Amino acid sequence: MKEAQPKTTHLKEYEVPPFLIEETELRVELDEEQTHVKTSLKMKRNPDAKKGKLPLVLDGGELDLKEISIDGRLLLSNEYSLDDEHLTLFDVPQQFVLETSVAIKPQENTSLEGLYKSGDMFCTQCEAEGFRNITYYLDRPDVMSRYRTTIVADKSLYPVLLSNGNDVARGESEGGKHWVTWEDPFKKPAYLFALVAGDLQHIEDEFTTCSGRSITLKIYTEPANANKLDHAMTSLKNAMAWDEQVYGREYDLDIFMIVAVESFNMGAMENKGLNIFNTSCVLARADTTTDRGYQRVEGVVAHEYFHNWSGNRVTCRDWFQLSLKEGFTVFRDQRFSADMGSATVCRLEDVAFLRSAQFPEDAGPMAHPIRPDSYIEINNFYTTTVYEKGAEVVRMIHTLLGPERFRQGTDLYFDRHDGQAVTTDDFVTAMEDANGVDLRQFRNWYSQAGTPLLNVSSEYDEDAQSYTLKVIQSCQATPGQEHKEPFHLPFSVGLLDSAGKDFALNTEDAHVSSMSQDGTHCSAVLNLTESEQQFTFTDVEARPVPSLLRNFSAPVKLEYDYSRDELMFLMSYDSDGFNRWEAGQRLAVDVIQEVVGQIQSAQPVSVDGRLIKACQAIVDQSIDHHQDGKIDKAMIAAMLVMPGEAYLAELSAVADVEAIHSAREQVRLAIATDLKGSLLSVYKLNLSDKPYEPTGVDIAQRALKNVCLAYLMLPEKSEMVNLCQSQFDNSNNMTDVDAALRALVNAADEKALEPKEKALTEFYNKWVHEPLVLDQWFSIQAVCPLPGTLEKVTALLGHEAYDTKVPNRVRALVAAFASQNTINFHHSSGDGYRFLADQVIRMDPSNPLLAARILGPLSRWRKYDEARQRLMRGELERILSVDDLSKDVYEIASKSV
Ligand code: BES
Ligand code: ZN
Repeated sequence: MKEAQPKTTHLKEYEVPPFLIEETELRVELDEEQTHVKTSLKMKRNPDAKKGKLPLVLDGGELDLKEISIDGRLLLSNEYSLDDEHLTLFDVPQQFVLETSVAIKPQENTSLEGLYKSGDMFCTQCEAEGFRNITYYLDRPDVMSRYRTTIVADKSLYPVLLSNGNDVARGESEGGKHWVTWEDPFKKPAYLFALVAGDLQHIEDEFTTCSGRSITLKIYTEPANANKLDHAMTSLKNAMAWDEQVYGREYDLDIFMIVAVESFNMGAMENKGLNIFNTSCVLARADTTTDRGYQRVEGVVAHEYFHNWSGNRVTCRDWFQLSLKEGFTVFRDQRFSADMGSATVCRLEDVAFLRSAQFPEDAGPMAHPIRPDSYIEINNFYTTTVYEKGAEVVRMIHTLLGPERFRQGTDLYFDRHDGQAVTTDDFVTAMEDANGVDLRQFRNWYSQAGTPLLNVSSEYDEDAQSYTLKVIQSCQATPGQEHKEPFHLPFSVGLLDSAGKDFALNTEDAHVSSMSQDGTHCSAVLNLTESEQQFTFTDVEARPVPSLLRNFSAPVKLEYDYSRDELMFLMSYDSDGFNRWEAGQRLAVDVIQEVVGQIQSAQPVSVDGRLIKACQAIVDQSIDHHQDGKIDKAMIAAMLVMPGEAYLAELSAVADVEAIHSAREQVRLAIATDLKGSLLSVYKLNLSDKPYEPTGVDIAQRALKNVCLAYLMLPEKSEMVNLCQSQFDNSNNMTDVDAALRALVNAADEKALEPKEKALTEFYNKWVHEPLVLDQWFSIQAVCPLPGTLEKVTALLGHEAYDTKVPNRVRALVAAFASQNTINFHHSSGDGYRFLADQVIRMDPSNPLLAARILGPLSRWRKYDEARQRLMRGELERILSVDDLSKDVYEIASKSV
């Protein structure tokens, strides 16, 4: 980094905007050479801003300013100044119309921020600060304006011209051009602006809202993908109905559009009335898309749709408030997905992701609260902390208040702040005001980083028949935050009797925020507020087994000294589905850690038979209840999956990459060997030749079958290679093809060598024209844990289908390798680290946002041994020594090193 240090923006320096923009009129003349943007802004001084004569400073990226006038008078060159990032007007009236004309070159925009080309179409991405690459503007979310946009383009190349709101006029002009004018009646910040132009096809449907209005729904794509849009449409209608039922939120425009684009930095974007999606989050078809892909589409379509209220109607005051819209909307989409499918499995997947991705972030050099205090580049704060931990924080409010009072709170929030740009504090205040509660201490979740640790112990007093839980909470220091105040959190607990039933809970304790009892289930939500606290339950007739932190009621680490027998008991009997899974995970972690110890001290490895027995019980259950619908196969499948290496690393003080990998593999092999017969039975019972449907029941059945397949393929000299190959050859859906291909590719067995190569080639040739399927082809190879994978990945960089300009490809190969292939990325040679640093350096000039995002794994060096730490930091240093590094990469690398 040779230039001056990039500027840091601080939350505490927030000031209201000095000027307001009441109306924004854009005329965008699209062209292959130079695109012209003519902007007319009706501006005035902000009455709430500090008094005094102020210059007007507009944001602007790489814009070529052609003309500028105020109230129709062209400005002289001494009336304004330009630098790389701003246009400053020295003297402006109280109220005026500012007109600018700029030229830009979208076809050369590789950063994919602002207006750019994806394939043959023009599209935009303006969040967070992309609008300034289109025209000079007050590009900040608290400046909200009404937009009227005219798009002009060649009619044969770009027959479809889209922007936010309603199309109000259209016509033809000379030279084969045509134009369309769009008007958005709702005020919005610039980051929600969107424009699309292309030769697009669409599907159309209709949704009738709760008040009887009819909404037109359109989903657009390039022609080749028009046959993969139905699932997104179904998901959209489900999301619209759900938001009416659960939050009372109705859609507000007469039309809602989604456009699928191939080159996109993120998953999708909630532009008002015109959502723009990465193809990976909207396209789905049985033969090209896995069940996971289908679920992803459903969740992302819902997420972006939900933003219409949580983000667009009520938006963020500044980017420090990002979790206001993202945390809340992730919580909303999680609950939606839970209602659409298996709620417990959704929950445990969300928690597994939080623990394997967010906990490490919270323990590393980039740790930040869900409302950060400062940033250099805001793009770096679209993190799992702001999103997933942010969602957990909203969920805790939901748990503390209960669903009805939570709804009172959101009603007040939407009502009070409709049309405003607000803060996370406003959100919490609405929750308080609607319910007469005090969430002052709860606000620590917004200002303090780090994952709290709950250390729990219990005492049973037989004479008094009372049971006491003692909880000590603490939180590790994070950068800039040495000391932490205790958090207020909901601690949901149940007590199991010896038959596995929940005791009815009795307590005098004033800290109980709610009790829920239905049927055989009884839980109490305890209010944890102090660093040490005790809760006593009475009328407990015998020593119970505690079920703690039910449904993962707070984003914390929990220590309690469970015996392996207690865990097996909870796995079978806990009335809380999440904790049944959690008990299994704890047991597995315990056993795997024991094996890690054996490996480290060069002892013979022995896997505790109780884990095998527990797995046997789960498998048996699925055989016994195969047909009767009494079991959730998705849950069975999830319970058979061993905790991931990333989570196991997270749990270690110093992660021994090789021992963890080897221990986990040996435990999996022991399960596969001992349960071979049963696993094969379950596999066969769950084969099906009915047509593909993405229903919960069918998805669960495929998941269970494919978990069994993965186990069956583990033993060397596996006779299952044929079985696997036959699934690869004969399946009618991508879920089963993908599972078979993965199992073949991951097989260490020599016998699999030839079938593996054959399958990869066949797969490639069959899908060479389907980019999303090719992404899968790249990523299956990138995440293979076998030795030699890095060489293969490096070779794939030179493959004709590899393209650094398409972020999906980069994520499929480079990011997948670095973030999911623990054993190969962390190879003791440091080759994996060097590979990642090379790719970051290569990508930075063209797409800094993406370069910074894939850099993440290198910043987690604290978890590893000294030699690896040195290698990782060495690569960070090497990145930092590069000239003209972007702010994006500079911020992550310099804060991590
Ligand atoms: N608003 C974001 C998209 C975004 C993120 C734009 C960062 C610019 C910078 C959108 O609502 C979002 O959160 N998308 C997620 C997927 C979602 C399901 C969590 C994404 O793109 O990954
Ligand atoms: Zn979002």
